[in-house]
Amino acid sequence: MNPKTSVITEAQKNEQRAYCDAIRAYWLGRGRTPKAYVDTYGCQQNEADSERIRGILRLCGYEIVESEEGADVVVINTCAVREHAQTRVYGNVGALVHTKNRHPEQKILVCGCMMGQTHVVERIKNSYRHVDGGFNPHHLWQLPQLLGRLLTEKKRVFLTDDEAGNIVEGIPSVRQNALKAWVSIMYGCNNFCSYCIVPYVRGRERSRKKDDILAEVRALIANGYRDLTLLGQNVNSYGKDLPDGVDFADLLAEIAELDGDFVIRFMTSHPKDASEKLFDTMAKYPKIAHQLHLPFQSGSDRILTAMNRHYNREQYLQKLAYAREKMPDLVVTSDVIVGFPGETAADFEDTLSLVEQVRYDALFTFIFSPREGTPAAKMEDPTPKEEKNARFDRLVALQNRISEEKHRGYIGKTVRVLVDGTDGDMLTGRTDGGRLCRFAGSQDCIGQFLNLTITDCTTWSLVGEIVKEG
Ligand code: SAM
Ligand code: SF4
Ligand code: F3S
Repeated sequence: MNPKTSVITEAQKNEQRAYCDAIRAYWLGRGRTPKAYVDTYGCQQNEADSERIRGILRLCGYEIVESEEGADVVVINTCAVREHAQTRVYGNVGALVHTKNRHPEQKILVCGCMMGQTHVVERIKNSYRHVDGGFNPHHLWQLPQLLGRLLTEKKRVFLTDDEAGNIVEGIPSVRQNALKAWVSIMYGCNNFCSYCIVPYVRGRERSRKKDDILAEVRALIANGYRDLTLLGQNVNSYGKDLPDGVDFADLLAEIAELDGDFVIRFMTSHPKDASEKLFDTMAKYPKIAHQLHLPFQSGSDRILTAMNRHYNREQYLQKLAYAREKMPDLVVTSDVIVGFPGETAADFEDTLSLVEQVRYDALFTFIFSPREGTPAAKMEDPTPKEEKNARFDRLVALQNRISEEKHRGYIGKTVRVLVDGTDGDMLTGRTDGGRLCRFAGSQDCIGQFLNLTITDCTTWSLVGEIVKEG
């Protein structure tokens, strides 16, 4: 992996724009509007990338459709974080052979994090002959060139070199939601947690310039977006690679000072870099959601060291205690890995006791999945699968009990929600802390902030009634 960041120049972008023009002309010559379908796996970073892919496809003249059937181009944006995610992709890419048989001119592209692994690229090239091409995350901005070559050269094109991580400003996004928007503030990761494939497939950390982020956020607010999530694998490292000394808390504060009715959140925070300054800033500005996703991964210090996480249980708990002191209504969620190589029954008990102690609002729980090329994949792993599954079930049962108890604690309280859609004949909304609420009301309320009195709950959601004004 080449560690140097490159900023893509206007000249390089103009080259891609020329390919967009050529593709539009190609389809104009054929007398119809081409269709494109993008399917996304993985995290919010990939969702944000897919919005950019749709933006590029629209620039090339494609209509964005919701099914692969009959689409002229199908883009599968993949995730490599766990084996299960990859297996699903292989199955679904394999099944596209039938769709393509019904529409032989269809071009199938595979991109995303899986294409950052050489062995996956080889498997796609050799065993999935109906796939026409692909690109890894470093080459997303060159999609016009890739498509243009596919249409004219009539041979497969793969852009999968392990390039320097880059920053490309100005790619338009076709966003999936009219109220909520992802804003990538940085790309890549420098942390090399011993189990994780992300740094290998997405390259080193690189931050966008503050002014570029602020310009994007201002435009989103002006266009009616109300719920903005700043994205990065470790947002607390934001700015470390920039010359102007700005850090993540400074960026958050500047955004929170912008005019408009909106709420701002962020993910993910690495506990080792979460600072008191960050929590002070969150507490100070009403527009910053009191929501914190702070993955702990394991409650055992021994396992945290083997994971290369650079914090221990005590430090983690101290940071959280500070955050909760500043924001007593803070909604806290986390990621946990069960069955890391060498995790003993005692280590797992430490994880359970940490969950009991913190009482998270929600947990994202994963069974360890060895990723080729990471240090953890080579570690001794004597614990049988059945034992890992049993531990996983105990953890989920514990968290379900806590989630339900926490939800019950909301009954009788008033919360503010952004109304974001419907579920059957109920409206849905999220609290500033990210809790899902269901309630009766008119669809005209979608897009507004409303106060609700909570009347009931389930493990996963709150039920409420709109508070009548005056
Ligand atoms: N950057 C974030 C962080 O540091 O917390 C999250 C990155 S990762 C996309 C999301 C979660 O997937 C991680 O927090 C971890 O719990 C889980 N994960 C990553 N690699 C894994 C693996 N090999 N097996 C199981 N879970 C994994
Ligand atoms: Fe993976 Fe760790 Fe980076 Fe998160 S911080 S993306 S878990 S290496
Ligand atoms: Fe995200 Fe999966 Fe890549 S979790 S960063 S899409 S490996």
